[in-house]
Amino acid sequence: MILVTGGAGFIGANFVLDWLATRDEPVLNLDKLTYAGNLENLASVQADERYVFVQGDIADTPLVMQLLDQHKPRAIVNFAAESHVDRSILGPEDFIQTNIVGTFRLLDAARKYWGGLSTNEQAAFRFLHVSTDEVYGSLSASDPAFTENHRYEPNSPYSASKAASDHLVRAYHHTYGLPVLTTNCSNNYGPHHFPEKLIPLMIVNALAGKPLPVYGNGMQVRDWLYVRDHCSAIRRVLDGGRLGEVYNVGGWNEKPNIDIVHTVCALLDELRPRSDGKSYREQVKFVADRPGHDQRYAIDASKMERELGWKPAETFATGIRKTVQWYLDNPGWVANVQSGAYSKWVQTNYTSRP
Ligand code: NAD
Ligand code: DAU
Repeated sequence: MILVTGGAGFIGANFVLDWLATRDEPVLNLDKLTYAGNLENLASVQADERYVFVQGDIADTPLVMQLLDQHKPRAIVNFAAESHVDRSILGPEDFIQTNIVGTFRLLDAARKYWGGLSTNEQAAFRFLHVSTDEVYGSLSASDPAFTENHRYEPNSPYSASKAASDHLVRAYHHTYGLPVLTTNCSNNYGPHHFPEKLIPLMIVNALAGKPLPVYGNGMQVRDWLYVRDHCSAIRRVLDGGRLGEVYNVGGWNEKPNIDIVHTVCALLDELRPRSDGKSYREQVKFVADRPGHDQRYAIDASKMERELGWKPAETFATGIRKTVQWYLDNPGWVANVQSGAYSKWVQTNYTSRP
């Protein structure tokens, strides 16, 4: 079996669902169930005998050692993290704890477990660390896209904590020979995306008749990838990636934030028109910028294509349409994730942005 950490979050849940739909191999999902972890994402596989869920922290070494010894996974895929930049600005501590200390403890438990495997099992074992393009910092409009050799220049507490975790993963390969792989991916979007992030926030706010808060001038650029394409890239790296290597994953799809918001509005105008006949664009509101806001991210994913034959299957037009439709089809999921602590977060982040 494989051990997935953070499998109840946005990308992890999509990965578990796709894995069980395409492979026979069982999955053990270790997730702390923070505000971002949601077992409803995995309701369709809850009764699948190939799926095991354990609530717990990647920083809990005795628990992780016990799970490794009991289930003997042949790979670990590490999604578990604090993932939201705005939360890292308002409260960095959890990011240091999970992204740095947690990744360190998970790596160290993996190293001990791996050291006790047979030679053949050791050769087959993989530790795949899921990371982000934000570790490379920010690009100007004319800079080439990030390659795997771009220097690390993280600018937020989130990206700094992910950069630190990437360095630890690299060091565990270099020093101890742990068979690691790292992926650095651009912005994902798709089903089960928690509505603290740009695209799902715009969809749920638009439908609720609320303002669509665009930071600064809305001209920051992100490279968007449909989440299931990210999942297929991770499977490809797990299957064929070269040990110790880093793979950049992206959608070849750079867009300014304001274009993303307008696209979401246009799709909603078509699929769920406002009752007053006006466009959802009327709800756009420019608000105070994110401190230290990175201007542009862009991924050069040619190594993935050259070495592993991977390319995204979705275009932005197809992926964003599927995404908007998913939110329209799942009002119950939206209502459940917006209860409780979510409204407190919205108040904290947006009342300070006149
Ligand atoms: P998410 O915030 O939606 O989910 C994170 C999951 O990790 C949640 O289920 C949470 O409960 C769990 N978790 C948090 N702390 C934990 C801990 N200490 N122990 C165990 N579980 C814990 O995040 P996401 O958007 O799905 O991102 C997953 C990974 O992919 C992260 O490592 C992130 O840095 C990386 N990534 C995300 C994106 C993106 O666009 N969302 C892009 C590139 C890379
Ligand atoms: O690039 C990969 C990263 O993408 C991942 O590592 C992170 O985990 C993920 O959260 C994402 O980070 P971003 O900061 O790029 O994503 P977010 O959806 O928060 O913001 C996207 C852009 O939209 C960014 O320029 C800020 C802007 N934005 C965001 C929100 C939440 C707004 O204009 N308004 C908003 O309300």
